[in-house]
Amino acid sequence: MSRLQNKIALITGAANGIGEAAAVRFAAEGATVIATDIDEAAGKAVVERIKAAGGSGEFLAHDVTSEDAWVEVTDHVRTVHGRIDVLVNNAGIYLIAPLAETTVEDWNRLMAVNVTGTFLGMKHTALQMATAGGGAIINLSSIAGLVGVAGHTLYGASKGAVRTMSKDVAAEYAAAGVRVNSLHPTYVNTGMAAYGAATAGTTIEALGPVLSPLGRIAEPADVVNFLVFLASDETAYLTGSEYNLDGGGSTLLSVG
Ligand SMILES: NC(=O)c1ccc[n+]([C@@H]2O[C@H](COP(=O)([O-])OP(=O)(O)OC[C@H]3O[C@@H](n4cnc5c(N)ncnc54)[C@H](O)[C@@H]3O)[C@@H](O)[C@H]2O)c1
Repeated sequence: MSRLQNKIALITGAANGIGEAAAVRFAAEGATVIATDIDEAAGKAVVERIKAAGGSGEFLAHDVTSEDAWVEVTDHVRTVHGRIDVLVNNAGIYLIAPLAETTVEDWNRLMAVNVTGTFLGMKHTALQMATAGGGAIINLSSIAGLVGVAGHTLYGASKGAVRTMSKDVAAEYAAAGVRVNSLHPTYVNTGMAAYGAATAGTTIEALGPVLSPLGRIAEPADVVNFLVFLASDETAYLTGSEYNLDGGGSTLLSVG
């Protein structure tokens, strides 16, 4: 397992869920992982697991909504590791609420993490990647950034913005060798999906056949398999693209 050998990979929201699984797997694939999050205790534990397994990485406390924090984190990584090859803009928050009950405070809080955080991540890495000869940025959007879902006006807007920002930056930096792609999962088995299922008055298990003809929601490993692929040199010709990771849920009809 060395598909990311010698790559310096910065993963936000790496203390839990998809980011945690990505950090552990990227390290197993040979990357040096800079795992960042606002959840310091869980983030440090992730990096301890990486090191115990013989991998390389460090944890940095990092609120993605703060431009000062992005400057601090990216300066640190360049000073200590020399460059950033891969950025996974994974940190995100979720809210399901009827349109009429969605407040401006909710809007600003969620947009700050999902949209401003992703914008700042690209702003503070793409130019340096270009100067170093290239790199890969992967932005976690959602199937909710592609299709309409009741109760998802705010979250869907944020993930739609992630989708289009990814293409804009991909266009701006393609000639410089910086690839930018967005990933669009359906529910993935993390705390976020558990919240979604509970809010809908159901369970993750019951939602599986509803959301996908494969009969289950995604596991973090399903997402991470694709993140490794997009971060690796195997995808040198892929940029500006969006990838559904939804078990066919948005494209296949189940009749009879
Ligand atoms: N789980 C799903 O069903 C699902 C589906 C589609 C897309 N996504 C997207 O995948 C990404 C990861 O989701 P997850 O399910 O692993 O969520 P999660 O809640 O398990 O983990 C999210 C992580 O982000 C961190 N975080 C939150 N605010 C932050 C901030 N301001 N700065 C830095 N870190 C912050 C949290 O501390 C947490 O560790 C998100 O962008 C989410 O929108 C998730």
